[in-house]
Parts: sequence; structure tokens; C-alpha cells
Amino acid sequence: MTLKNKKILFIVGGGISAYKSLDLIRLLQKNSVSIKTILTKSGKEFVTPLSIAALTKNKVYEDIFNKNNEAEIDHISLSRWADLIVVLPTTANFMTKLSIGKAEDLATTVLLASNKDILLVPAMNVRMWLHKATQKNVKILQDYGYHFVGPQKGEMACGEYGEGKMSSPRQIFSYLKNYFNRKNIVKNKNFKALVTTGPTREYLDPVRYISNESSGKQGYELALALKKMGIKTTLVVGPSNLNFSKDLKIKKVISANNMLDEVKKLLPVDIAICAAAVADYSPVKKNKNKIKKDATNLSLIKLEKNPDILDFLGKNNKHRPKIVVGFSAETENIIFNSKSKMKNKYCDLMIANDVSKKGTGFNSDYNKVAIIHKNGKIQNIKKNKKSYIANMVAKIILDKLLMNDKNIN
Ligand code: C5P
Repeated sequence: MTLKNKKILFIVGGGISAYKSLDLIRLLQKNSVSIKTILTKSGKEFVTPLSIAALTKNKVYEDIFNKNNEAEIDHISLSRWADLIVVLPTTANFMTKLSIGKAEDLATTVLLASNKDILLVPAMNVRMWLHKATQKNVKILQDYGYHFVGPQKGEMACGEYGEGKMSSPRQIFSYLKNYFNRKNIVKNKNFKALVTTGPTREYLDPVRYISNESSGKQGYELALALKKMGIKTTLVVGPSNLNFSKDLKIKKVISANNMLDEVKKLLPVDIAICAAAVADYSPVKKNKNKIKKDATNLSLIKLEKNPDILDFLGKNNKHRPKIVVGFSAETENIIFNSKSKMKNKYCDLMIANDVSKKGTGFNSDYNKVAIIHKNGKIQNIKKNKKSYIANMVAKIILDKLLMNDKNIN
């Protein structure tokens, strides 16, 4: 059973929909989910601690400071206990607090200290939901990695109609079932991924090299997103100034040939994403000493073609990853060029981006991409943080992998 023995920490917020938390808790309880609850001060205006405690058979946490037992309410252990944290309902005010990292009560402190996935279930008036301030917070929170379910369109408690209605307990229940189902499959299948990122450096002599502007950020964010999904991920990165998380397995390389060697060592994997801006050429000969200023004939620097790592992975007969993903940075005819690149390099997905505009792509925190599928389907993702795009792309890749696996088994 997907949900059996899963541990969910509920944070019940202050909105009229708080009463629906009781229905959801009952539904989960019937499916053998363990539930602990934090009731916020305003949540208490809508539901009582007693009704929640009666359903969950667990004590309800309210204050960060407990006069009777100071060791008992530990914001760290509450978050560590849970497999998932669900905030229901998530009000506009609560979202603002999360977006600026407040830790003013037990609920906000637990969330700030959490190392778990957090699901927000917004519920508010349509104007509040559509307000630019709220929408800005949604983007910030998505970028921080919070998950959302809803809101839905419908008639609200205040009598108005529109987007802002909380998802029903049934809808949230299905979301949770699906969420844990995917987690279980990923864990049991022991999926592995490799991501290449950053530039490569092709040395002419001990101090000079051919390289490019790539920061490695998009590939790094992708590796983090895959890892968060439970996939064993290794990032193969060319020279980059990024500060990498210690939690991620990293292989540092310099040249295209080094990168290919590391990639080969990592095979077999289920997913390969080539986000690196690999130099296309390297000097045939690397000068042992620094080339002198007075060298007259610079055409002496002969270049040869580098190996194409993506092409190698896409064509690989022995260990072809189940999903091979390429990146395509273009300045013109973006979709057309990316489609042919996708075909030539035998990819399952191609992430195309326009690098002719400033503010996205190379060396930026933002990106704007089109995801091209093998069947010709194109998903355009508006300009957003690279972390947001990474989460979206990682989800699409996992969906594809799970679908393939279903068809194979
Ligand atoms: O043909 P182009 O270099 O534009 O293709 C880009 C895609 O190919 C990217 O996914 C990039 O990581 C990959 N690539 C590679 N090895 C190369 C050149 C490109 O893996 N030598």
C-alpha cells in the first residue's frame, strides 16, 4: 500500500477551509498514515486542537515554547520525523512569511528548519490569489522548492467566484498518493543519473586556453532537482566558480576528453543530461612552454574536433541511458536547429534556449527554454529562475522514465 506507514506533518493554518483538514486527516488515517499536527494561532480560530487530536490520536503542537516540557517541542525533530510536510490551508499571509524566511512561531520555524519536501495547499479569495504580491510569492516559493497543489476555480466561502478555492480533501489525497507512489518507485528502482555541466577548457600552452562563458548553473540545478527526487545523481562539471552543495556527488574535469572519460566511468545510468557547453575544438598539440609573444605564425595552432559526449551517449549500444537529454543554445531558428540536433544526436528530449538575448541563458540565474519531445511536442517555459526550470525539466524526465519503465516491464 502506497501510503502505509508514511509520516505526514500537517500545519493547519488560519482560513475557513481549515475544517477540511479534518476530512483529509480521516482519509489518510484510514490508509495507515501517521499524522502529527501543528495548529497555528489563527488556525485555532477555525478548528480545535481536541478534534485534531481525537482523529490523529496524537498530541497537537501549538507553541514553540512549552512551559511543561521544554525538550518536547523540538522544531528540528518534528521536521526530521516527517516524510512530508503539508500546510493546509496556506493563506496569503502565511506565504508572505515563508517567502521572507520568517521564523516567528512553531509552524514557520519548523518550515525554515525543514529538510523535507513541503506541500502548500493555498486557499484564499480570488483577488488575494491573483494579487501581484501573492503571485510574486508563489514564484519565490516555487524557486525555494515548495510544492503546490491548487488552488482550484470555484465558488468561495465569501460568495465570490474564481481561482483561490482550496483543493478538496479527495484531490489532495490523490496528490499525496501519487507523490508517495513516485517516491516508492524511484527508491525501489534505484535510478541513477549523470549530468554534464559548465564549460570545458582546451589548453594551448600551460597558461592559455579556449573556453566559453558557461557558468554551469543550469546543469547544477538539474542535478539538485534529480537528487531531491531520490535519484542517485553525479554532476560532471568543467571549470566553474559555483559553490557546490556537499550533498551532491561531483566529478571535476577540465577538457572535453576528461569529461568524456568521467562520463564513461559513470555508465550505466538511467538518465544522462548533457548541459555542458563543451568546446567543439581543442589544439592538436599542447605546447609544453608558454607560447612566446613573438611567435610569428599563429596558424601553427592546429585544432582538432573534440568528442561529442551527447552523441556518444545517444548512440551508445551497450549502455545507452534510458533517457538522453541534450541542450541546444541557439541564436536563430531555435526550434528548427534544435530539432535537427536532437535527431542527429539521438536524444529523447532537447532543451532549447535562445542565447541571443541578455538576461537569460549563459551566466545568468534565469533561463527561458522550450522542451522538445521526440514526438514533436514542444513545451515552452517562460523566463524563470534556473532552479524552477530545473525542477520542471526533472519532473518531465522522471515522468518519461516511469512511463518507459512501465512499457518495458
Ligand atoms: O551541437 P551543439 O554543440 O550545439 O550541441 C549541444 C549539445 O551537445 C549540448 O547538450 C552539449 O552538452 C552537447 N555536446 C557534447 N559534447 C560536445 C559538444 C556538445 O556533449 N563536444
